[in-house]
Amino acid sequence: MDMTPTCWVTVSLPAFSRNVAQASQTLAGDARLMVAVKSDAYGHGEAEIAHAALEAGAHSLAVLDIESGVRLRPHAGDAMLLAWLLSPSDDFSAAAHAGVDLGISGLWQLEKLSREVPEGCVSVHLKIDTGLHRNGALPEDWEALCAEALRLEQQGVIQVRALWSHLSDTSLEENRRSVARFHTAVDEARAIGLRPELLHIAASAAATDLPESRLDLVRVGISAYGVSPFDDRSAQDMGFEPVMSAHASVTSVDIARSEARIGMGYGHGLLPVPDNTGWVVHNTQRLSLRTVDTDHCVISMPEGYLLSPGDVVTLWGQPQSGSPRAEDWAAWARTIGDEVVSAMALGVEHRFIR
Ligand SMILES: Cc1ncc(COP(=O)(O)O)c(C=O)c1O
Repeated sequence: MDMTPTCWVTVSLPAFSRNVAQASQTLAGDARLMVAVKSDAYGHGEAEIAHAALEAGAHSLAVLDIESGVRLRPHAGDAMLLAWLLSPSDDFSAAAHAGVDLGISGLWQLEKLSREVPEGCVSVHLKIDTGLHRNGALPEDWEALCAEALRLEQQGVIQVRALWSHLSDTSLEENRRSVARFHTAVDEARAIGLRPELLHIAASAAATDLPESRLDLVRVGISAYGVSPFDDRSAQDMGFEPVMSAHASVTSVDIARSEARIGMGYGHGLLPVPDNTGWVVHNTQRLSLRTVDTDHCVISMPEGYLLSPGDVVTLWGQPQSGSPRAEDWAAWARTIGDEVVSAMALGVEHRFIR
């Protein structure tokens, strides 16, 4: 039986490393660079990406939850790992043992820490909500959170390593207002007696357009994967190259209908697009996309252009060969490029270029 998969993604670790170096230079500048490896490194494969990020000079990694942080610790040396999506059923002592820093937004998290890790000393980043309303302490709860954190720090249960927030990136003006709110919160925390080593608020978009938001550390995700966080600028304009590309082989050809099937569909994580939208490439020949189905796509063969079973087609991610970018596919699917790459997390084989 032929076990050759009908589809796969390639992940170029050298391209990712170049992006990390570029992010370091152009997005972080004098600040430290934290690379976000959440959601299996946006679908790219978290262990390989974690190694590559740190080797390319990233200071630290953002991992979303404790479980991911514990899983990644063996791949991260002693680099800082930050997890901030915390639930009451999480094992905070596992974070302490693996040396995973916790993003703290509420008093219940501090109470849980002092209960579960009384011997300390967990490194925490206190998060203030500066307008995003997704996570982070509300301004009216901030003082109490800081005061309790100081008390636990004095008891040796925690160390407040950082104060941080996240921006909504709805507009430059809104980001400016959020940065100002953040500085107010930092002043309040200092007045209470906290002495954090790091302040951080910016992800890809703000780090690019609002250098004053870089502070001590920037948390960069999507740009490092070569996908633009903007609608009006490509990743290439920003000096980043695609890391992931999606490929499928031709599984059957229907000459009468001038079409062929390729072996990747939405069951593999490919985002569906409306019928007769977009294209794929074979070598450098564009072939229009007719439909995306569960386990295959139907593509058309232009007159005089014959595909054969086994031919390999690129769906996105290799613009140098004329394929769409992840961002093009995202536009057809009416979503963002992050989703195009992240959706590939589990469905298909990842072939790493080292
Ligand atoms: C808290 C936090 N920091 C950093 C990032 C990275 O953002 P981006 O992918 O826009 O660079 C994210 C992504 O959602 C995030 O939630």
